[in-house]
Amino acid sequence: MKKVFFLALFCVTASLAKAEQVVVQTRHNTLVLNVEKGAQPKYVYYGAKLSALDLQHLQTPRADGRMEIYPAHGLNTPAEAALAMRHADGNLSTALIAESVEQNGDLTTINLKDPVYPITVKLKYKAYEEVDMIEAWTEITNGEKQPVTLTTFASAMMPIRRGDVWLSHFYGSWANEARLVEEPLTPGQKVIVNKDGTRNSHTDHGEVMFSLNGKGQENTGDVIGAAICYSGNYRLKVVTDDTDYHYFFAGINEDNSEYHLKKGETFKTPALALTFSQEGLSGVSRNFHKWGRTYKLMHGNKERKILLNSWEGVYFDINQKGMDQMMADIASMGGELFVMDDGWFGDKYPRKVDNSSLGDWVVDKNKLPEGIEGLLRDAKKNGVKFGIWIEPEMANTTSELYEKHPDWIVKAPNREPVLGRGGTQVVLDLSNPKVQDFVFSIVDNLMSKYPEIDYIKWDANMAIMNHGSQYLTMGNQSHLYIEYHRGFEKVCQRIRDKYPDVTIQACASGGGRANWGVLPWFDEFWVSDNTDALQRIYMQWGTSYFFPAIAMASHISATPNHTVFRTTSMKYRIDVAMSGRLGMEIQPKNMTDEEKALCRQAIKEYKQIRPIVQFGNIYRLVSPYDRKGLASMMYVTDQKDKAVWYWWKTESFQNEHLPRVKMAGLDANRMYKVHELNRIDLKPLDCEGKSYSGAYLMNHGLDVPYRNEVDWGKKTDWASRVLLLEAE
Ligand code: DGJ
Repeated sequence: MKKVFFLALFCVTASLAKAEQVVVQTRHNTLVLNVEKGAQPKYVYYGAKLSALDLQHLQTPRADGRMEIYPAHGLNTPAEAALAMRHADGNLSTALIAESVEQNGDLTTINLKDPVYPITVKLKYKAYEEVDMIEAWTEITNGEKQPVTLTTFASAMMPIRRGDVWLSHFYGSWANEARLVEEPLTPGQKVIVNKDGTRNSHTDHGEVMFSLNGKGQENTGDVIGAAICYSGNYRLKVVTDDTDYHYFFAGINEDNSEYHLKKGETFKTPALALTFSQEGLSGVSRNFHKWGRTYKLMHGNKERKILLNSWEGVYFDINQKGMDQMMADIASMGGELFVMDDGWFGDKYPRKVDNSSLGDWVVDKNKLPEGIEGLLRDAKKNGVKFGIWIEPEMANTTSELYEKHPDWIVKAPNREPVLGRGGTQVVLDLSNPKVQDFVFSIVDNLMSKYPEIDYIKWDANMAIMNHGSQYLTMGNQSHLYIEYHRGFEKVCQRIRDKYPDVTIQACASGGGRANWGVLPWFDEFWVSDNTDALQRIYMQWGTSYFFPAIAMASHISATPNHTVFRTTSMKYRIDVAMSGRLGMEIQPKNMTDEEKALCRQAIKEYKQIRPIVQFGNIYRLVSPYDRKGLASMMYVTDQKDKAVWYWWKTESFQNEHLPRVKMAGLDANRMYKVHELNRIDLKPLDCEGKSYSGAYLMNHGLDVPYRNEVDWGKKTDWASRVLLLEAE
């Protein structure tokens, strides 16, 4: 009988003799690896949990699949490699064979070495038992006498058996983030990369799902989900060649980033988080949301405040009276926090528009004569908390900071810098420890002087356009992207060590920082600068594949919308914003009394459903991408005693025929009482106050009118519904 290593709560270190089965288990998933001393370790299985007997009788995968867990370049060069390096003597080939296996609690380590060169590689697997997640990463150590150059260094590789495998991934751009694409995997390579340098989710996203049995379904079917947990440039690649497998590689994007690993130094890759679900795409999302809220997201178990952000209301037109008025308005609608956005700072160069002052984090006394003290006083008077916007990684060439420290910016050697936003923006070089200290000090100064600050919006509005560091040596210029993010992580960690309680939003020209490599230090992210409710349905749909509602900042804004100029009803805007972390991004003094009353009511009702939305399990029901004229999804509590159901029209035609939506995730045997939230219709729905079994709601569903039945002059094209279901 084969010897079996099980992940257990004790430490086993084994030097291997013959083939060993290494098993990493979570509640519903099993990963099986085959490790034999002197040979390359191989994948055997990843999927639904296996019984002891199945494990014993597990088939070895077909010989024509390349099952090596971490293929190195050099001795089978036609195959794609996870690791490639130039050894100190110039040799481009590496071989990796197993030495030993360690299992210590939830962590499994496979120790590999090159039989000829003193290079060791540790393959790490960390199991999150309860939430069905396995994080995989790699640690590469150079034991050679001189530096070696890493040219390929994936976090992990996973073979996926061919069949009818579909890939779900996300593309986008500013104001159009997280657009879902679903496509079958075909021969060739599918490569998803980020090269922004600072942010990494505006365009492609670092997360993918593989539906193993044809086009992904939301709540049925086998699906693997994978997310690269890294704030910097990444590369996800699926290679499909002449074997029975697709080969999925994920890690840092190595383009222009070869890494010189010093003698004795260890290079640790970011983790790839993996989950498997038999409950379809939404099942994978639920696993990611639970894992994220429990282990990754800052304050993932704490309800978020309902806020008003000043940006779309006043843009740069900040002044004390205006801020006070906005605070009073959000307080009167039941909000809990006011956030002052861009435009409050700069002394020698006051920030009037976007072309100056970044780096000069002192109050503009002309706009705010009583400083932050005055704002905090007004916040207290109005009964709301206070938050503030900063963009700490950046400067403008028109700033006192740049005048003092021109050597702190990211810039190619011997060249003038390419400038960003406003024609003057530059990125600070976070590879430089002095810059790290400066960036830390921005938050430290604010928080130590004004500990009442409750919330920080941390923005980042420029890519690394210039490849070059004035701090790194000429020989190590290729380390810039990696060192930038090491610096970023260090600063974030220092901030969190000192200020664990403050809420921090990751904003990056909108949704540029939705990634699990960022969120361990941040409470949420701004989904997009586009607050148009209709387009938000599409973007929030995509975002929800990997990120929970608690992290998705979703604000009610004015119409015509400032980005797409669409006019939607206040009810529609509220109903969409209420499916994420609700906030407002509007000038309240321009709102009608009726609009204010609607928002007041919505905020009141959101407080009631906040735990369901922010901690509930997502069930996506009808996708806007399927073009059925509507989109629908719901959140259900762990106990299945409460749920919130959303229904939004995504098209509007006369006499159109929309499908009735079947619900999901409820307890078939319980009765649920229906109550419509944010009601504007003159008459209640026919299901209002009535009770239905979970079975009926899931097998049949509720019909709702396609339009909101309101007075003639108030009718609009964009109907929506939000229903609260409470078990009796
Ligand atoms: C980009 C952000 O995404 C916006 O919300 C706003 O904060 C602006 N920057 C301010 O310049």
